[in-house]
Amino acid sequence: MAVWKCAVCGYIHDGDEPPESCPKCGAPKEQFKEAENAELIKQSRKTNEMHVAIMGLYAKVQKWAKIIQEDKLDPNCVVIADRVMKDTTETIQSIKAELEAHMKKGKWG
Ligand SMILES: [Fe+2]
Repeated sequence: MAVWKCAVCGYIHDGDEPPESCPKCGAPKEQFKEAENAELIKQSRKTNEMHVAIMGLYAKVQKWAKIIQEDKLDPNCVVIADRVMKDTTETIQSIKAELEAHMKKGKWG
């Protein structure tokens, strides 16, 4: 199966043929070119999806930590919640930076 990229918007399509038109921007089939880095795109998908999944889980963790911070039931609990917020924020921002690097290297799609 080939990987096709819309020259107008960058939409990636998997298939033996490009789509009749781009689902994102509506560009005609002729605007699709076979991606030169198809293998790199395929290989990077799993890692990128895991990064996105981790960010989603960490967003949930932050909501729970925020509840603990606001409840202020116990100072030690707040210390832990503060640490959770700091660690998850740094990890989320690191993942965002990594995903940006992947996109710049064509490891996205
Ligand atoms: Fe497009």
